[in-house]
Amino acid sequence: MSEPREITEPAVDSAVDAALAAFAAAADTAALKVAKAAHAGESSPLAALNAQLRDVPAEQKAELGKLVGQARGRVAQAISAREGELAVAEEQARLAAETLDVTAVPALRARGARHPLTALMEQMSDIFIGMGWEVAEGPELENEWFNFDALNFDPDHPARAMQDTFFIDPVERHLVLRTHTSPVQVRSLLDRGVPLYVVAPGRVFRTDELDATHTPVFHQLEGIAIDKGLTMGHLRGTLEHLARALFGEGARIRLRPSYFPFTEPSAELDVWHPTFKDGARWIEWGGCGMVNPNVLRAAGIDPDEYQGFAFGMGIERTLMFRNDVKDMRDMVEGDIRFSQQFGMVV
Ligand code: PHE
Repeated sequence: MSEPREITEPAVDSAVDAALAAFAAAADTAALKVAKAAHAGESSPLAALNAQLRDVPAEQKAELGKLVGQARGRVAQAISAREGELAVAEEQARLAAETLDVTAVPALRARGARHPLTALMEQMSDIFIGMGWEVAEGPELENEWFNFDALNFDPDHPARAMQDTFFIDPVERHLVLRTHTSPVQVRSLLDRGVPLYVVAPGRVFRTDELDATHTPVFHQLEGIAIDKGLTMGHLRGTLEHLARALFGEGARIRLRPSYFPFTEPSAELDVWHPTFKDGARWIEWGGCGMVNPNVLRAAGIDPDEYQGFAFGMGIERTLMFRNDVKDMRDMVEGDIRFSQQFGMVV
């Protein structure tokens, strides 16, 4: 407690002046807090003067009370004004310190592009989705039974030979990298039952060397439709619709008799692509046929009640003749400039 002194105007003014000077000198809110305690707190000169009001004679109480009261009011006002100033200044300093330059250009790596094979598989699937079909999937590491036996391949069929198929060690497990998407026919029959309308795009594997027209990993789109009373007419119409949706109204298809163990009758599928770069001509596109009754039996379906058709075509081939890609290796090297030509930057 400071020394008791008389309540006089100079004493009050000097207490107020000291307080205002201290507040103005406070450079931040912490310093202001200290100044506030010293000049407006319980042990401040002003508090002492205020306490002395108790002892002044009654006739002076009103006048001196007003003097001290006004002084305390000015001091309180000065504190809150300085508090406001310091808060604004400190906020601005914090914002300035936290500024981020959002116009800075980061050195990001190119983000990549969708591969045209992926885009083409989706486009082909969409055409079937538009006809009410579903999209199915199967594993790339496949049981030999699904890849061959259930599809009516003889145990000694040449396609099983080591030079065509990647067998996985140990051979007793009978696992292969699927050589075609046709095992999804059987898986879909078992999983989804009949009637069945599915396409299955996906990756397949054969022991080919990589060159301009072969790659050991490539893609196919499989299709299977099983219902009551489906005929080769439905197969033709479906494939013709696919060809026109992909290549334009001038596209035609042609079926040539062929053989696959899992279809009977079987056909090679050719497409007439009207805008083919080297002049319109027939191009081999895939295989197809009516699903062999033995395949339906392998999936537990009565072939006297349900019949249907299946087809499969290469996606790389389709891309090659649709977009005049001369060398298949361009599709597998992963050079982003290849994908960017198709305008599909993601
Ligand atoms: N899976 C056959 C192939 O890879 C194509 C095919 C599919 C043929 C469906 C007939 C029916 O060559």
